[in-house]
Amino acid sequence: MATLDGRTAIVTGAGAGLGREHALLLAAQGAAVVVNDVSADAAQGVVDDIAATGGTAVACPADVTSWEGAQSLIDTAVQTYGDLHVLVNNAGIVRDGMIVNLTEDAWDSVVGVHLKGHAATIHWAAVHWRGQQKAGNTVTASIISTTSGAGILNNPGQANYSSAKAGIVALTLVAAKELGRYGVRANAIAPLARTQMTAATPGLGDMFAAPESGFDAWHPGNVSPLVGYLASADCAVTGAVFHVVGAQVAAFNGWTTTPLLEGDDRWSIDDLAAKLDGHPALTIGDDGRLPAEGMSSHDFQQLMAAAVPSSGQA
Ligand SMILES: NC(=O)c1ccc[n+]([C@@H]2O[C@H](COP(=O)([O-])OP(=O)(O)OC[C@H]3O[C@@H](n4cnc5c(N)ncnc54)[C@H](O)[C@@H]3O)[C@@H](O)[C@H]2O)c1
Repeated sequence: MATLDGRTAIVTGAGAGLGREHALLLAAQGAAVVVNDVSADAAQGVVDDIAATGGTAVACPADVTSWEGAQSLIDTAVQTYGDLHVLVNNAGIVRDGMIVNLTEDAWDSVVGVHLKGHAATIHWAAVHWRGQQKAGNTVTASIISTTSGAGILNNPGQANYSSAKAGIVALTLVAAKELGRYGVRANAIAPLARTQMTAATPGLGDMFAAPESGFDAWHPGNVSPLVGYLASADCAVTGAVFHVVGAQVAAFNGWTTTPLLEGDDRWSIDDLAAKLDGHPALTIGDDGRLPAEGMSSHDFQQLMAAAVPSSGQA
């Protein structure tokens, strides 16, 4: 018996890249898959690939930035396969640029596809799962969101993308807290892999090239087994944020506070200046780490290098 037999999964943006790999793996593990993409041809191509290997899938072309489009995914799952168990939010785009060059359209489109595209599907899936639970059915559901190191570690040149991806972490953790009572788990992954998105990012195309031999650490399919694990009915993990690349899986730890001042009355500006000027917890580190950053870019590069020792560049 395969890990996901009897489960129905939606994968958004599954026409290419990581989403395609997730859809192929979930189907290979026995899930019936609703393959979403804004490109109908791309979605149908993945459905055909799944069917060719004996899997079960249906295409659901829709724009996840639309509330109605998101609802159509949940409706398709329920009408075609009778229920929904797994929601993999993956669809994404980039429109990179510095804040001084940011246009309203670049902001709205990127925040729309990522953050609203996650919120809309989570909303409609939550409506379905709450209804199932209230009808007395046992729900063992899983939401897997897609964030990014850019959202957690704040990437210059990606203000829109980083903001949306940070919002996805907050949305996912709220979902984990709100929906647990209905039998729904929610986790997020921050992947790194070779796709059309990273191929278009200056510097990443060469870095993510496939090796001539040995483990292809940047292959997007390396990310999908974690999605399959989080999707399984027996998995209990919820409220976690994973970094996943090659053969490395790591957990991001959340925000913490460092106590700075305590008193009995309102501070004056002068007192604050006297006590906080030059405070080590508010000073940019020697490695360029901002005061609020838990991990510097250097730390992150070391993490990636450990994940992909053969590349020598990460
Ligand atoms: N590739 C990486 O290294 C990496 C790193 C961090 C995060 N991510 C995230 O992983 C996800 C997948 O990225 P990828 O690298 O596979 O990119 P990709 O461009 O290969 O795939 C994204 C897919 O989403 C689809 N899509 C775009 N807008 C859509 C919409 N409105 N509705 C439905 N589908 C839509 C696209 O048509 C495309 O098929 C994204 O959320 C991305 O931000 C990727």
